[in-house]
Amino acid sequence: MNRSTFTSFVLLILVSGSFLLTGCQSDPQISGEEQAVLTYAPAVPAAITRNHPTKVIIELETTEEVKRLADGVEYTFWTFGGEVPGKFIRVREGDFVEFHLNNHPDSKMPHNIDLHAVTGPGGGAASSFTAPGTGSTFSFTAANPGLYVYHCATAPVGMHVANGMYGLILVEPKEGLPPVDKEYYVMQSEFYTGGEYGEPGLQPFDMQKAVDEDADYVVFNGSVGAMTGDNAITAEVGDRVRLYIGNGGPNLVSSFHVIGEIFDLVYTEGGTVANQENVQTTLVPAGGSAMVEFTVDVPGTFILVDHSIFRAFNKGALGMLTVTGEEDLDMYSGKQEETVYLPEGGAIQEIPGGAPEPPTAQTIAERMDAGARIYAANCAACHQPEGQGLAGAFPPLAGSDYLLEDTDRAIRALINGLSGPITVNGVDYNGVMPAVRLSDEEVANVLTFINKSWGNDGAEVTPSTVTRVRSSH
Ligand code: CU
Repeated sequence: MNRSTFTSFVLLILVSGSFLLTGCQSDPQISGEEQAVLTYAPAVPAAITRNHPTKVIIELETTEEVKRLADGVEYTFWTFGGEVPGKFIRVREGDFVEFHLNNHPDSKMPHNIDLHAVTGPGGGAASSFTAPGTGSTFSFTAANPGLYVYHCATAPVGMHVANGMYGLILVEPKEGLPPVDKEYYVMQSEFYTGGEYGEPGLQPFDMQKAVDEDADYVVFNGSVGAMTGDNAITAEVGDRVRLYIGNGGPNLVSSFHVIGEIFDLVYTEGGTVANQENVQTTLVPAGGSAMVEFTVDVPGTFILVDHSIFRAFNKGALGMLTVTGEEDLDMYSGKQEETVYLPEGGAIQEIPGGAPEPPTAQTIAERMDAGARIYAANCAACHQPEGQGLAGAFPPLAGSDYLLEDTDRAIRALINGLSGPITVNGVDYNGVMPAVRLSDEEVANVLTFINKSWGNDGAEVTPSTVTRVRSSH
């Protein structure tokens, strides 16, 4: 955006303080209205041919559903539009976007959306907090062109993102992007599951692995194999290909690489200037993007990887671009000989394991101190710093009959997680609390802290009580 455009944009915001909440502003350049056509990965909506900004209406639904993560492995994904990654949104610089976020009635959790393309508090998150079975509307001007990530930003934010709540929104520059033959949507992300990679069955989210950034799965477009075999993206020799690459994270930075191709152009971090030529591997930050372009010169299968290479071959970060057409033996001669190279010697060293045991609390005061730290790290994002909870989403812990009536039940909730309907102080909740991987000592400390904070008159919980409950089922 040039300076005069920027100045008028700032003035527009200053003049209309309720910019994000009210209807279409009187921008003389905006004309018409249209419903956005959104696409599932790897498809990208058609290039915009309008030469003027318009009012764009976007409808996006959040859902929670069990789907395939890998062969034999299922996962309860939280989605924007029913798939991971969320649907691709394409608008034009200067468009006025009216965004409707609807949360399916079967959802257990509230959701919202933070679009990195939005200039405004929370990127829309504050205006779009949406309980199950309801919808929210907010609006914004797509002032800055570029390729942006959107994601859910409802607490616990990391868990919503880890469960699949991210996608891309392209704000095309008003002059458009150079025409290409093929455009594809590729979004990397990682999953943290109770079982190790490939362990069959419905896998729960593992909060501790997510905190430790110890991903079991790193994938393109939501699952292992979403871009391989019959699902490969395709091109013909001579095609100019543009990839819109996003990284939903939640944690890992991608070293995005296409084996056997060189990116002729890279729009680093999804900005609008193609600022690099002849690039082998480009970094895609968590919560960030990149656009790459290349012309395919020879037929074959080109492998998309995160070149943090164990992720590609051991965790799923692998896709395929299948190119058909005429050979060009000058460019590439094809296979002449295949050998296997294995370095000799060098036994893998044993890594000394086992973190030192944390100190045990000797007094209630020490238990309370330790518990306060555990609470801040694991519980406060949802149940709030003063245990007051969040209406419609997370029950209070301060004055909670559910908590204080039954200490064993509270311990079980912490060590096993808790989902399904419960009633707290006469109010119904139906959410999902992930199991928190804590030692018996840590469970005792945090429950003692909760039991004796914010006016609660509960008892001290000892590690031996937690041990008993843990071993009783
Ligand atoms: Cu969410």
